[in-house]
Amino acid sequence: MDNGFEKINIQWYPGHMTKAKRMIDENLNYVDAVCEILDARIPLASSNPDIGTLAQNKPRLIILNRSDLADPDITDRWVKYFEKQLCHVLVVDSKSGKGVNQFVPAVKNVLKDKIAAYEEKGQSGRPLRIMILGIPNVGKSTFINKVARRKAAIAGDKPGVTRGKQWISIDEKIDLLDTPGILWPKFDSQEVGELLALTNAIKTEVFDFETLACNFMLKLKNIYPESIVSRYKIEINEDDTGYDLLQKAALKRGMLISKGEADTNRMAIALLKEYHEGKLGRLSLEVPDE
Ligand code: G4P
Repeated sequence: MDNGFEKINIQWYPGHMTKAKRMIDENLNYVDAVCEILDARIPLASSNPDIGTLAQNKPRLIILNRSDLADPDITDRWVKYFEKQLCHVLVVDSKSGKGVNQFVPAVKNVLKDKIAAYEEKGQSGRPLRIMILGIPNVGKSTFINKVARRKAAIAGDKPGVTRGKQWISIDEKIDLLDTPGILWPKFDSQEVGELLALTNAIKTEVFDFETLACNFMLKLKNIYPESIVSRYKIEINEDDTGYDLLQKAALKRGMLISKGEADTNRMAIALLKEYHEGKLGRLSLEVPDE
């Protein structure tokens, strides 16, 4: 089965990552802390495992963004998971701005020793500098716009829209360094690649659309069966495959190719779009390993 997975790995990972790593490295000297934005529905898949090494000893703040689309109970578990690893965590919905006003207090908490040291040296007005990192389309521009309360970074709907380097002052004492380089996710398995495609971090077109939707249906059947039942008004049988469920949903919606034959391709597009829009409910696709 050609799902395009190898193609993505080869084209996207090595060159872009080397460049991003170099830019992060060059800019680390200018910042006091690193803030990593993750998708609350897939915190591991949307993180870049190299950030720990890249950020060296800089204090780190993790932002769980798109919390409006994630399962709140699972997000709570992720917060505990990251806190156990001694990370500072903030849960936000950058689209509405919920939780964003906690960012400045969180930065001051993360850097309290540094602030005290500045004060001791008589440099209490010195701004704190934070590097914002995150994979494409995770919501960096939207988050920065909300914390800066203005259209500081251009938000866009395509992976990779945040380019170049820019400093944004969010108050008189905090400056953000917007993504020096494009940090691609490190997808080393088909499952991680699919999670990234489902959450729009990478283009869904690179996968076989129907296969992606079938695998997603199967995942939903296992973790959130009620979301399929209530959205598509179908019954789930124990031995239903993802394709069976896609077919049932298409038939129920009257999406037909010919008389009685389900248009599963159209249904696949609808399913992924509706998940993206949050119409299936608040569904997290990764659960912390406890
Ligand atoms: P980037 O800089 O990291 O590349 O991401 P950007 O801010 O451009 O955001 C990518 C998309 O994610 C945008 O949607 C933005 O509205 C959406 N987004 C960002 N943060 C949140 C959040 O907390 N919750 C939700 N629900 N969405 C968020 P878009 O594709 O331009 O349009 P649309 O998806 O809003 O229709």
